[in-house]
Amino acid sequence: MTGNSESLDELISTAKQVSETILKYSNVRVVSHNDTDGITSAAIICQALLREKIRYHATIVSRLDESVIEDVNNTISEGDLVIFCDMGSGQPDLISNVSEDTVVIDHHNPEGESTAKAVLNPHFSEIDGSTYLSASGSTYMVAREMDSSNVDLSGLAVTGAIGDKQVFESANEFILDESVKNSVISVKKGLKIGEGDIAQLLENVPEPYLDISGDREKIDEFLSSLNVHGNINDLDSEDFKKLASAITLKIIKNASTEAVESVIGDVYTLNKEPVQDIYEFIRILNACGKVKKGGLGLTLCLRDTSVLDEARQISLEYNRNIVDQIKKAESLIQCGSNIRYLNAESMDSIGIVAGVIIRYMYPDMPVIATNEVEDVVKVSARATHHLIEKGVDLNYAMREAAKLTVGSGGGHNIAAGAAIEKGQVENFINIVDDIIGKQLNPDTESSDE
Ligand code: C5P
Ligand code: C5P
Repeated sequence: MTGNSESLDELISTAKQVSETILKYSNVRVVSHNDTDGITSAAIICQALLREKIRYHATIVSRLDESVIEDVNNTISEGDLVIFCDMGSGQPDLISNVSEDTVVIDHHNPEGESTAKAVLNPHFSEIDGSTYLSASGSTYMVAREMDSSNVDLSGLAVTGAIGDKQVFESANEFILDESVKNSVISVKKGLKIGEGDIAQLLENVPEPYLDISGDREKIDEFLSSLNVHGNINDLDSEDFKKLASAITLKIIKNASTEAVESVIGDVYTLNKEPVQDIYEFIRILNACGKVKKGGLGLTLCLRDTSVLDEARQISLEYNRNIVDQIKKAESLIQCGSNIRYLNAESMDSIGIVAGVIIRYMYPDMPVIATNEVEDVVKVSARATHHLIEKGVDLNYAMREAAKLTVGSGGGHNIAAGAAIEKGQVENFINIVDDIIGKQLNPDTESSDE
C-alpha cells in the first residue's frame, strides 16, 4: 500500500490539522519510543515546539503501558497537551485514560476508535506505515506545517525511517526529495556501513552481518586477501570497489535481497546533525535508547554536541555486545513448519538479533526470538518484504497468539513483538507457527473448514 498523490495530499492536510491543534497549547508533554525512530520523532516535535516558544517535557519509554499513562497523569497540569509519537495507535484504550488532551503521531496499524484530539497515521491515507512512512516522517509532516523553516529537521525524519528499515518510495521519497533539495541531506553511491577504520567497523557493527563479523583474526585475513586497509573514506576507487564486491559476495550467499540493497547503494550524509554519518547516528541513537539513555540520544538530536563522546562510547559497547549476541544466537535457531524460532535467553536485544538472522542468514521464514525477563517473556518477530508480499502479517500473528497465551502483542506486518506469560513459550510458538502457515496458505485453511 504505497498510496498515490491523493494519499500524500490527504496526509499533508491531516498534518496541517494536527499542527493547528498543537499550536493551541502552551505546555506539551511528549512521550516517544526508545528506538531510533522514536527518539528522532521526539526530537523533531521538541524542536518544532521550542521554535514556537511552546514549553515541552519529553520522556522516552520502551513501550506504552499503564505505568506510562500513570506517570503522564501525575506530571501534567490542567490545560496541557500530551503528544504520543511512535506509539498509541494500537492501544486507544490506554490513550483514553490520559486525563488531559492528547495527540497521536504514529505509524503502527490503527486499532479501534481513538479519543485523541488529533491523529496522524499514514495508514488512514492508504500509505503503509510499516514501509513507507516512519513515526519520524509522520512527525516531520506535522513539523513542516507548524513552520516551513522546519525543513532542516527532515534529516532526522530520514534517520528514523532508515532506523526502521523503511523503503524510500511514496511518502518517504517525498521527504527525502525535500531534504536533498534543501541540502539537509547529501546523497552519494557507496557502502552503507558508516565511516572509520574498515577493520574496526567489521568487528563492531551488527549490520551488515558477515560470517567474519566480530572476529578480528578473520577480518584481518579477509582484508589482507584483498590488500585493503585503513579508513573507508580514504580508499581509492579501485580498493573501494574490491571491498564492496567482496562484502556483497559474502552477503549474497545467504541474505535476503533487501539486505544486499541495504548495504550497497545510495549513502546519505546528514548536513545539519552532530553526527553526519547516518549509519553511525542510527547505531548511536538505538544504543542510547536501549541502555535507557534515550534522553542522551534526544539531546544529541537537539544538536548538543557536548554529549557526543559519551554517546559514541555507549554505542561502541552496545553494538559490540550485539555482535556477540548474534554469534551465540546462531546455534540456538530451531525450525518449525513455517517459522524459525530461538529462545534467546539472557539476550537483551532480541529484536536486532531476530532482524539480523532473517536478513543475513535465513530469509525464507519469519524469525521469532523469545527472552524471559523477570516474570514475563518478551518476544520479537521479524519478516522480509518478500514474506509480506506472500501474506505474512506479524502484527496479527503476535496480537492473536499473545491473546491466547495471557499476554499482549502488536507492531507491524514486518516487525512485531509481544509480552507473554512465563511457561507459555512452547504454546505461543506453536500458535504463531500455525497462524503464519494459514497466512501463507489461505486456501489450505478454507479447505479444512
Ligand atoms: O516501534 P517501531 O515500529 O518503531 O519498531 C519497529 C522496530 O522493528 C524497529 O526497531 C526496526 O528497526 C525494526 N524493524 C526490523 N526490520 C524491518 C522493519 C523494522 O528489524 N524490516
Ligand atoms: O521490541 P521489538 O523491536 O521487537 O518491537 C517490534 C514492534 O512490535 C514495535 O513496533 C513495537 O512497538 C511492537 N511491540 C508491541 N508489543 C510488544 C512488543 C513490541 O506492540 N509487547
